[in-house]
Amino acid sequence: MTISLYAFGGGQMVEAIIRAGLKNKALSADSVFVTDIAQSRIDYLQQTYGIKGATVLDQPQLTAAQIVLLGVRPQDDWAGLTQTISQSQTQAQVVSIIAGVTIAQLTATNANLPVTRIIPNTLTDTGFGYSGAALNDHADQALVDPFLKSFGKVDYIPENQIDIYTGYGVAGPNYIYNFYIALTNAGVLAGLSRQQANAVALENLQGAAKMLELTGKNPNELLDINNSAGGVGIYAQHELDASDFAAGIQNAVLAAVRRTTELGAEK
Ligand SMILES: NC(=O)c1ccc[n+]([C@@H]2O[C@H](COP(=O)([O-])OP(=O)(O)OC[C@H]3O[C@@H](n4cnc5c(N)ncnc54)[C@H](OP(=O)(O)O)[C@@H]3O)[C@@H](O)[C@H]2O)c1
Repeated sequence: MTISLYAFGGGQMVEAIIRAGLKNKALSADSVFVTDIAQSRIDYLQQTYGIKGATVLDQPQLTAAQIVLLGVRPQDDWAGLTQTISQSQTQAQVVSIIAGVTIAQLTATNANLPVTRIIPNTLTDTGFGYSGAALNDHADQALVDPFLKSFGKVDYIPENQIDIYTGYGVAGPNYIYNFYIALTNAGVLAGLSRQQANAVALENLQGAAKMLELTGKNPNELLDINNSAGGVGIYAQHELDASDFAAGIQNAVLAAVRRTTELGAEK
């Protein structure tokens, strides 16, 4: 059984969610309907994925949907969309990806609306990545769970952790990309070709992640094995410990969390 989805806003993030859902068969092309104010966007989504869509509301589709996805931007008329959903009498679960818009704001005109506010992960094409999801009292976790898992893993969190999740988790790949660049530049600096440096770093990145996952060990234990007395590893370790490597990453995450909160407050 595929999930019937009605999405308001057919932008980049909604497209990524639909693409992942179609790929792993949680969605089927005829179970997805998108309303976007741009006809060009509807045309593109229909041609690319075979889904249905329109620039105006399709009441029967909305009423029949199991999940209604709010995928517009914070500056768009999401308040009008919540009223449209309420008036439609749909029994659907509402899932919002709108950054910074709180459950209280989404339910301001209808306290009975079942709302799940998520910060979606952006690694949807890979099968990796956690989305953070906060539910109000009317939302049904069992009903939204298959949809949320169709584009990655899901962590059910209190709403006050959404900003932390955004700065740490959803912005997370950025920290990894930066680490990868720093490491591969080191390989080139030391004398490898760019191609060699990239290939070795990518392999180590994936292998080290797998080691953490498979062994379940604290990384300090793995470092103890690798950093033997007088060996190569412990000399590199000393340089890392003497640098602001760890503090740099930590400060970046805290800045991202702060900025998320600031953006939410600006609305
Ligand atoms: N992209 C990400 O990585 C990411 C990650 C986490 C969360 N988010 C959140 O996801 C949401 C969408 O982001 P995005 O990057 O996908 O933005 P986007 O590509 O600009 O998508 C928004 C789409 O919604 C359409 N739209 C605006 N008002 C509408 C309405 N009343 N009814 C129907 N469609 C409407 C827009 O059309 P026009 O362009 O013609 O106005 C646009 O196509 C945002 O709230 C963002 O905070 C995004």
